[in-house]
Amino acid sequence: MRGYIVALAFLEPSTRTMYSFQSATYRLGGKTLVFSSKEATSLAKGENYADTIRMLDLYSDLIVIRSRHEGTAKYAAEIAENPVINAGDGRHEHPTQAMIDLYTMYRLFGAIDGLVIGVLGDLKYARTITSLLYGLTRFKPKKVYLISPGLLSLRKEVYDKITELGLPVEETTSLQEVLPELDVLYVTRIQKERYPDPLEYEKVKNLYRITPEVLGNAKKELRILHPLPKIDEIDPAVDETPYAAYFKQARWGVPLRMALLSLVLGVYEEV
Ligand code: NCD
Repeated sequence: MRGYIVALAFLEPSTRTMYSFQSATYRLGGKTLVFSSKEATSLAKGENYADTIRMLDLYSDLIVIRSRHEGTAKYAAEIAENPVINAGDGRHEHPTQAMIDLYTMYRLFGAIDGLVIGVLGDLKYARTITSLLYGLTRFKPKKVYLISPGLLSLRKEVYDKITELGLPVEETTSLQEVLPELDVLYVTRIQKERYPDPLEYEKVKNLYRITPEVLGNAKKELRILHPLPKIDEIDPAVDETPYAAYFKQARWGVPLRMALLSLVLGVYEEV
C-alpha cells in the first residue's frame, strides 16, 4: 500500500477497529488520515455530512467509517468515488468484525461447518451479532443458539432473514441448558448507548455474567469469543482459562484487515 492513504472517520468511540485498521495500513506501507471527532472538523461549524465525505474522498484512496447512525456507510459510499468500508453503523451492522469472528472460528477449529455456536447477550442492539449471523448463513454450522432473555432477543427483521436463508437457529433463555453442546460461545456487551430509555437499560444490565463457575459443564474444547470491549459480562478470571479466545480474536483483526484493504484497493499479487 505504499503511496496509498486511508481516511479513518470514526464518529463513535473505537479502540480495536480504529487502531487495527491503522495498524493494518501501516504494516502494508500505507498512511492514514484520522478524523476522530466532530468537534475537530468543520462538522462542528455546521458543514453537512455529504460535503465532509466529499473532502475525505478527495484527500484519500479509501474511507473507513463508523457512526452511531444506521446507513451512514452506505450513504458515504453513494457520495464517494473511492471505496468505503463500514466500521459499524449504529445498531445496524459491523461487517468487518464479522469477518474477524468467522476467521477466528476457522483458525481455532479448522472449519466453521459443523460447529455448534451460541451467541449470548444483547442480540437486540449488538451490530456485531447481526453481521455475524448474516455471515454464518454462508456456512453450514450444525446449530446456532440465540441465547438471551426476551428483552434482548434478536430483532424480527434479522431473525426472519437468517431463518429464510436456512441458518439452523434456536432461541433459548437458558445458557446452562445448551452450554454442554457448544463449541463456540460468542458473548456481547449490553449496548448501553443504544437504549432509548435508561430504565430499559437498568432492567437488563446485570442479566448474565460468565464466570469460571458458570462454565463448569462446558466442553473442554469450548472457546469464548467477544468482539470487545467487555465490561461486566465476563469475569476477568475467565481470561486466564483456556476457554478465552477473545484476545487472539482481537489480534487477528490486523491480518484480516490487511487482507481486506489489499483486496479492496487491488494491491495484491495472485499467489
Ligand atoms: C463492537 C462495536 O463497536 O460494535 N466493538 C468492536 O468493534 N470490536 C462491540 C461493542 O461495542 O460492544
